[in-house]
Amino acid sequence: MSAVAQKTAAVAVDDVDITFASKRSKVTALQDINLHVEQGEFVTIAGPSGCGKSTLLKAVAGLTLPSAGSVQLRGEQVKGPRQDIGYVFQRAALLEWRSVRGNILLQAEMRGMDSTAARKRADELIEMTGLTGFEKALPHELSGGMQQRVSLCRALLHKPSVLLMDEPFGALDALTRERMNIELNRIWAETGTTVMLVTHSVAEAVYLASRVIVMSPRPGRIIEEHTVDLPKRRGYAETLETPEFHRVSARVRELLGASGAEE
Ligand SMILES: Nc1ncnc2c1ncn2[C@@H]1O[C@H](COP(=O)(O)OP(=O)(O)OP(=O)(O)O)[C@@H](O)[C@H]1O
Ligand SMILES: [Mg+2]
Repeated sequence: MSAVAQKTAAVAVDDVDITFASKRSKVTALQDINLHVEQGEFVTIAGPSGCGKSTLLKAVAGLTLPSAGSVQLRGEQVKGPRQDIGYVFQRAALLEWRSVRGNILLQAEMRGMDSTAARKRADELIEMTGLTGFEKALPHELSGGMQQRVSLCRALLHKPSVLLMDEPFGALDALTRERMNIELNRIWAETGTTVMLVTHSVAEAVYLASRVIVMSPRPGRIIEEHTVDLPKRRGYAETLETPEFHRVSARVRELLGASGAEE
């Protein structure tokens, strides 16, 4: 197929190796990674600690460059930090002295976005994530889940082509995590954003995904991937009872169990 006829993937990772070398040691974090993520897909990445999941997200964001192979965002080679991605870290990383709105608008200030448009967009996101009424609250006045929602709004403010999430709900209690999963599913279904999310939770990996990627221990390789054949918009309890959810979860759990990775 010609390059023009081919649908351009939102993210294309081709033959990527990443090795970290210091004076004392050399660590191969990723080996022979091939992963194409289509626009609007929700790809979750599961794998044992240290297998290179964060490194993979950083490579997509251009924060770490591959030692071999290439990473492309919408057909464009990633050569350094990219502006068109959104990043959500495990901890919300909010500025304590700034309000909810102030933290979200930080994204706009850093990018020099038009402030009127940014404020309007911030308000839409605040409403979408259920933070209405807390615009002026400071981070310490929020629960952990609310802080992560602020962080999500900040990552979505500039309408990134790809949203990268690195264990975004790892620090939350089980119930809050479930609620965040449900909200994230709704946001994804409503906005059609392309998402790559790293998680240690099998249930989270399968519930959220249109495709689950399972990685091996270091050097990280993709050992299996499974398409999750369920509607985009999914209820939580219902989904967990479907044969499809059971099928994929059982296999992912088996693979992670075999590599000793499950929480
Ligand atoms: N900047 C760096 N310099 C040197 N080594 C690094 C660097 N970043 C990551 N590594 C190494 O690469 C490997 C993969 O790290 P990475 O953080 O990607 O793992 P991970 O799968 O995200 O693990 P976890 O589940 O614990 O977060 C590890 O062995 C780590 O020590
Ligand atoms: Mg990590």
